[in-house]
Amino acid sequence: LNPNQFQRRRVWSLTIRIWHWLLALAVCTAWGFGEFMDFATIQWHFYLGYSILALLVFRLLLGLWGPQAQRFSALPLGPGRIRTYLGSALSRTPGGEVGHNPLGSLSLIAMLLALLAQAGTGLFIESEDFFEYGPLADYVSESTIHFMGIWHHRIAKLLLFLVGMHLAAMVYYRLWKRENLLLPMITGWKWVKAGRNNEQQKK
Ligand code: HEM
Ligand code: HEM
Repeated sequence: LNPNQFQRRRVWSLTIRIWHWLLALAVCTAWGFGEFMDFATIQWHFYLGYSILALLVFRLLLGLWGPQAQRFSALPLGPGRIRTYLGSALSRTPGGEVGHNPLGSLSLIAMLLALLAQAGTGLFIESEDFFEYGPLADYVSESTIHFMGIWHHRIAKLLLFLVGMHLAAMVYYRLWKRENLLLPMITGWKWVKAGRNNEQQKK
């Protein structure tokens, strides 16, 4: 990397980093306990689901009223940013974005919504196999419980796909674009294109 072109900057706050790794851990274990459920693990599935809900609410609050860099309104989703991004998405050069690139922003939104729907539907469903039901199942009809169950099942598949794409994007950036996105999510520091001074500065 040419030091005249790239500078090391702190792009992810400690809050976002801790939040991210807690979320990843919770989602993976909740998914595992869901897919391989038994009498002993279903309660853990519930607890993890509630923890994920809490993490989501926290991120929504940050996104709406938190520090500027973490707001959804600061995500680079304008037509200009998307055009520049698409123009260089296939080139073998690091993007050097300060925070998310447009694709990362879309993935953030998609994952938040899918997780919210997953945890939300979970609250209303019952498990015929293990005689347990979500805390809100008592308040809705049988057909609603059934409907929520179908969607809990479907969105679980969608989440698998989204997380798979998430990881594939990291590999693509690492191998093709020669940019390490993973390390910044651990240390907070990232090589950023000099002079790039966009809305996402100083996450
Ligand atoms: C179920 C597991 C996971 C979920 C639900 C998840 C979700 C997310 C979300 C929502 C963000 C956006 C962060 C924000 O701005 O608030 C993000 C960013 C990120 N995640 Fe994950 N993640 C998961 C697993 C992983 C794993 C295993 C890795 C590493 C191999 C990883 C690497 C990253 C990186 C590097 C970013 C920053 C992307 C960028 O530069 O735009 N994630 N993830
Ligand atoms: C984002 C968080 C969650 C994820 C990733 C998740 C994932 C899963 C998965 C993969 C399954 C197996 C689906 C199937 O094979 O049909 C499952 C089943 C289930 N989940 Fe969740 N879940 C989450 C949150 C919750 C919450 C908050 C609750 C309730 C408090 C809940 C209640 C249940 C129940 C009762 C089942 C069993 C359904 C059945 O036996 O048909 N889940 N979940």
